Amino acid sequence: MTPLPPLPAEPGLAGSGLLTRIDHVGLAVPDLDRAIAFHTEVLGLRVLLIEENDDQDLVEAMLGFGPGGPAATVVQLLAPRSAESVIARFLQRSGPGLQHLAYAVADVEQAAETLRRRGLRLLYDAGRPGTGGSQINFVHPKDAGGVLVEIVQRLPVPAPPAPQRATGAGSGNQRGTQS
Ligand code: CO
Repeated sequence: MTPLPPLPAEPGLAGSGLLTRIDHVGLAVPDLDRAIAFHTEVLGLRVLLIEENDDQDLVEAMLGFGPGGPAATVVQLLAPRSAESVIARFLQRSGPGLQHLAYAVADVEQAAETLRRRGLRLLYDAGRPGTGGSQINFVHPKDAGGVLVEIVQRLPVPAPPAPQRATGAGSGNQRGTQS
């Protein structure tokens, strides 16, 4: 009997255009100010954003550098605000250091659904608000080779404001009326 042809292989997140790049690496730090000082003064990164995260009881800083602007390559520092913070527990268990790896995805729900279909467990049923208005979810580290994998959908970057038109005698002219 002729074997059935194999099912077409799924291209995976990157192959289907859902996963676009590494978005950032998350580091657990006991002292945010000291970690910021190291990353800015020694490594020369720039602080892009500092944000309180009430949900996870932590404070986080995004720092970046690189060709293409400081947002091109980003490190996220995560410091606990209390002993109950998920980062406090991480620090106690593993000490300071790499905490998660975040991939940028075009659509967090679609990416999560694709991963679930492949048998991976996501930490949340639906995307949650992340840093800077992003939407995020996490893959269970046991399903991702021991790595806590974050998937991040960034908000579209707003277009820069249009240059100011010169105002003056001719400013009342409408576009398309030039002769
Ligand atoms: Co992150």
